[in-house]
Amino acid sequence: MASANDTAVPTGVAATSLDPAYQRDPDPVHDALREREPVHHDEVLRRWLLTRHDDVDALLRDRSLSADPRKGTPGTFMTAFASPGGREPSILFMDPPEHTRLRGLISKAFTPRAIEGMKPRIEAIVAMLLDAVAGGEGFDVIAAFAGALPTIVIAEMLGVDPADRQDFKRWSDDGVMAFDPLLSEELRERVAASSAELDAYFRGAIAHRRAAPRPDLISAMMAAEEDGVRMTDEELVTMCGLLLAAGNVTTTDLIGNGTLALLRNPEELRKLRADPALIRNAVEEMLRYDPPVTETGRIPLEGREVRGCPIGAGESVIPVLAAANHDPEVYPEPHRFDITREDTHHQSFGGGVHFCLGAPLARLEAQIALNALVRRFPGLRLAEGELEYRRIPGFRGLARLDVLI
Ligand code: HEM
Repeated sequence: MASANDTAVPTGVAATSLDPAYQRDPDPVHDALREREPVHHDEVLRRWLLTRHDDVDALLRDRSLSADPRKGTPGTFMTAFASPGGREPSILFMDPPEHTRLRGLISKAFTPRAIEGMKPRIEAIVAMLLDAVAGGEGFDVIAAFAGALPTIVIAEMLGVDPADRQDFKRWSDDGVMAFDPLLSEELRERVAASSAELDAYFRGAIAHRRAAPRPDLISAMMAAEEDGVRMTDEELVTMCGLLLAAGNVTTTDLIGNGTLALLRNPEELRKLRADPALIRNAVEEMLRYDPPVTETGRIPLEGREVRGCPIGAGESVIPVLAAANHDPEVYPEPHRFDITREDTHHQSFGGGVHFCLGAPLARLEAQIALNALVRRFPGLRLAEGELEYRRIPGFRGLARLDVLI
């Protein structure tokens, strides 16, 4: 008799958020891969998927690997992320020593202190957004709350006019779409047009500050120097774009996925309401349980073996962060959402030299937003209806999340 194990493991589009079943619940796909082919060659999308915690962890820390799509073998998965027109990539897709130089400079401006200093503003913005929906019977958590918050916060940090935030939101949503390697020609053009608008906007913002610096992140990035060397204007523009694109949709999805997990697990919601100090651990568990970024990518510059599988130089290796986070070898009952879980360490911010620069900001925003949301609306519950997820491979988040209050 055929057992489930005789069937082929999910591969190609079936292992991405373009597939409706994967969108609804990626865990069965990740479990099948992890159990049956933890190092899987996806011949359709031309990439290797790594799904065991220890393999993912080791790969992320391995400094001999490249993150630069231009170093990939033509036609392999990662090469789709090379910037069009031979433009210099952002630090996300850069290797040392260039990566080290730019990451050092941005770290001088985007400091833990600058982030901690945003706390009162984040609290005020959260309160304002919740005030705006409090009069009704319910609202869409994504549109009214989780989508708006990170855009306003990063706009204020950069020092640009919050009135432009609709543009910001559009640019960052379109920016994330660039991560879909199967994007239609039409959408690809929209992404390129948005990115040109964003570049022009920040070129203007930089020029203004060249004449008169302000107490904001753009001016701080312009002033940051290492051995007398500063970022060029083009590097600054790319960095502003990355801060927008990398930080907005992801933080929105952390708050969205986290709200959904709480509402589907009333006992956990009750625990959090009873003890707001649990929020730190709760947000880590949300990041582990349903991460906004499900995978990242690396390219070996020399051939290697992983668990006996030969991976050639230039091929794409994808550590599936969401699968590592649910490895039963590491996490007891991995598919259970438990905000008091003792070990909530996770791979959701990536690792090694590319470990997410915005992790402290994302954590702070989510902690403040979720505690405020559940305290403000004691009757918060899910509205009826099917959930709808966005369809960008590598990312996981809701298109909308309707709740009643
Ligand atoms: C929950 C929210 C977030 C998640 C899940 C997330 C996740 C990630 C992941 C997986 C990486 C790649 C790491 C790797 O390849 O090893 C990354 C890199 C990065 N993230 Fe985040 N991120 C979030 C929020 C933010 C925010 C708020 C910002 C800034 C405003 C930000 C800025 C960056 C930057 C600049 C990088 C590139 C770092 C480098 O290449 O050195 N992220 N993030």
